[in-house]
Amino acid sequence: MSKSIKRVKGTRDLLPPETQLWAAVEAEAREIFGTYGYEEIRTPIIESTDLFVRTVGESTDIVGKEMYTFPDRRGRSLTLRPETTASVARAFLENRLNERPAPTKLFYMGPQFRYERPQEGRYRQFSQIGAELIGDGGPFSDAELLVMLTRFLEKLGFSHLRVQLNTLGDEVSRANYRQVIHAFFSEHSDQLGEDSQRRLETNPLRILDTKVPAERALVERAPRLKEHLSEESREHFACLCRLLDSFGVDYSLDETLVRGLDYYSHTVFEIVDEGLGAQNALCGGGRYDRLIRDLGGPEVPALGFAIGEDRLLAVLPESFRREHAAPPLALVAPLGTVEVEAGMRLAESLRELGISVVAEYRTQKFKSLFKKVDRLGCRFLLLLGEDEVAAGKVTVKDLHERSQVTLPQKDVAGLLNPIQNGVTS
Ligand code: HAM
Repeated sequence: MSKSIKRVKGTRDLLPPETQLWAAVEAEAREIFGTYGYEEIRTPIIESTDLFVRTVGESTDIVGKEMYTFPDRRGRSLTLRPETTASVARAFLENRLNERPAPTKLFYMGPQFRYERPQEGRYRQFSQIGAELIGDGGPFSDAELLVMLTRFLEKLGFSHLRVQLNTLGDEVSRANYRQVIHAFFSEHSDQLGEDSQRRLETNPLRILDTKVPAERALVERAPRLKEHLSEESREHFACLCRLLDSFGVDYSLDETLVRGLDYYSHTVFEIVDEGLGAQNALCGGGRYDRLIRDLGGPEVPALGFAIGEDRLLAVLPESFRREHAAPPLALVAPLGTVEVEAGMRLAESLRELGISVVAEYRTQKFKSLFKKVDRLGCRFLLLLGEDEVAAGKVTVKDLHERSQVTLPQKDVAGLLNPIQNGVTS
């Protein structure tokens, strides 16, 4: 017997009814982001490897060890996108979107690829829903983006999520702080593990992000960036915090939050959910005022976020799930072979009115019919026997209410429609 082919490690098959929830979450994102003037962008999944090396940064885990990079048939180095911010920036420049009125507001959703050790909440192919605001450097844009993000999460039913916020300052602040932190960790390098030793030379700020418990104690004692911020950075951040307070966004300051990508400056943030366990970051983002310039473009400030959709779905509130993972409302079941066609006709007439119906085309014993309707999760069983068809009627069993009524077929829609539309329960 030949060996069966399995899915690639770290990838998943998303199956119904879960896929219905994915679609519902994405529809919600489109709707809310749209009210803020965001429009969809779809960029290729493959990009030149250089794009990520120059933006995400050579010293990061993503570029250093997680990219799916391969030569094409002509030997050009291509990479499956590990994130989409760099692609959006490239597309912004390549399509001269800066000639349109600023800021440019774009959202995207789709698969990303990182060669990480798979575990709960961490996959090699995962999906993100992201938004990027390109062309404004002021704190009002930071605040608007975070307000939009929290509105979206609230709309999904989340109520206890908290934004963790920090500022990395501008280039001057960061360069100063980098020196200070390099000196501090060099002095205590005997307390650093292998990864942090390496980061000490490539990007010492990343040590602040360590998850190694022994190193956390050292990080607690490290000098704070706060004390090395330029006046402008300080004002930007203070204004953002004031706006978030005034618009009711719940956040906490986390001075050790630096994020795992090199392109950030000023505001950075993450949203975590304790329910996710070790991989608890639901969303990450921040400002990247240098990125477009680093790609050879003009000086254009920007910021954005990306939500890990797989993780979002893993902790999606029950209220949203109940509302959106709706099974077909009714199963139409003919009791004899002669009634099959009448059943199909009834099902079609209901579907035309927007009611979701599945039809049975083989006659079944009552016992298996009830089993099936239960497994499908339908609320109504519409039974068509010889008498019903002759009289143009149908017997409607409501399995929630445990009631039964026989009515003219033309009246069934009137009974089901309000329930399909969630008007009555
Ligand atoms: P990131 O923090 O690398 O940021 O990823 C954002 C989110 O993607 C994470 O918070 C997490 O929920 C999800 N994620 C990352 N890796 C995995 C994985 N292996 N499996 C499942 N989920 C994962 C970015 O990607 C930036 N581009 C965000 C951004 C947009 N910054 C500015 N604009």
